Amino acid sequence: MTTSASRPLRAAIVGAGGISANHHAGYVQAGVEVVALCDPAPAALAARAAAWGVARAYPDYEAMFAAGGFDVVSIAAPTAVHHPATLAAAAAGVSVLVEKPMALDLRLADEMIAACKEAGVVLMVNHQLRSSGPGSKARELIAAGAIGRVTHVRLRQAHDWGGVGVRPSFATKASSGGGTLLDNGCHLADLARYFGGTVAEVYARVATLKYAVEVEDTAHVSMTYSDGSLGLIEAAWTATGWEEGFWVYGTEGALECTNRYGPQNLRHVYRASPGTAWDRTDVTTFEFTGAPSHTRHVLAFVAAVRGEAPVVCSGEDGREAVRLILAAYASAAANAPVRLDAFAG
Ligand SMILES: NC(=O)c1ccc[n+]([C@@H]2O[C@H](COP(=O)([O-])OP(=O)(O)OC[C@H]3O[C@@H](n4cnc5c(N)ncnc54)[C@H](O)[C@@H]3O)[C@@H](O)[C@H]2O)c1
Repeated sequence: MTTSASRPLRAAIVGAGGISANHHAGYVQAGVEVVALCDPAPAALAARAAAWGVARAYPDYEAMFAAGGFDVVSIAAPTAVHHPATLAAAAAGVSVLVEKPMALDLRLADEMIAACKEAGVVLMVNHQLRSSGPGSKARELIAAGAIGRVTHVRLRQAHDWGGVGVRPSFATKASSGGGTLLDNGCHLADLARYFGGTVAEVYARVATLKYAVEVEDTAHVSMTYSDGSLGLIEAAWTATGWEEGFWVYGTEGALECTNRYGPQNLRHVYRASPGTAWDRTDVTTFEFTGAPSHTRHVLAFVAAVRGEAPVVCSGEDGREAVRLILAAYASAAANAPVRLDAFAG
């Protein structure tokens, strides 16, 4: 790695589309200057470069890495680009925050992990829900035994593309690798492990119900954990509005979090008071202020690159999320459960 405590970090971003703004906002908050951008779409590139005051704008990442002058890069281009751009970053000695899903398949993920290890650069995957206020607090409460032994994990992420239809880079298998099950579901696959541990088996169903696209727009995955507890992933582009939520149930309480009825607070539900009824429980509500989850995740990435904190979501974590989703696709195709321990992509 080329960083040193004495010199401030500088960043570059691959891709100037929708999610690049979240990475830029994170670097601004971290005090890391974004010095270079690349995107083959001239209008998107010019608009972002002008808005962010970035002087060095390139039509491709090869030219950007050849020019160098930055320590970290966010890869915020379509999923098919994650692998080649990560390899180019590693070859240039640049640490990588790569968008999710990490890669289109496990071989590509393995190559990304190996290249970054060999180059001695940090590889972190942008499953930013790990860094969210509710997500990180829930993990802490589960580890502290606040809900006893986890029995069921329910995870939902669903939306309707703001009512304007599927963004073109998400509509084809070649560009995105899959539909909502991969796009939204990979975040949930990561949270499934983050909250519940090792997933042993998946049984999935997928359908294309609303949009004229070659990928699925509605999916669910039933999971069995290695300790016998159960889980459910719901991913959809056939919702109305934007939904993000998780519910973790345990033998001694539950954790509930949804954005549907107000701020995305975390509710810890439990029974401590005597004489409560079936529908009356004790509740501790956690409210979170400050930076959104994407910004928190970029801050965590910068801290990891500086050697101040461990990597929050490693390449291996990103690979496991992809593996679970690929196993879910295999399950849906076979209409049968798929064991994870035997599944190699
Ligand atoms: N973490 C999250 O919650 C989250 C949310 C949205 C998207 N994403 C992920 O981020 C990635 C990008 O999604 P988006 O919503 O920004 O898509 P988008 O279609 O809005 O933007 C993608 C941009 O990448 C550019 N691009 C295409 N090929 C490129 C290349 N070779 N080099 C550089 N740029 C290239 C496109 O021209 C476009 O401007 C996808 O992998 C997606 O899954 C993650």
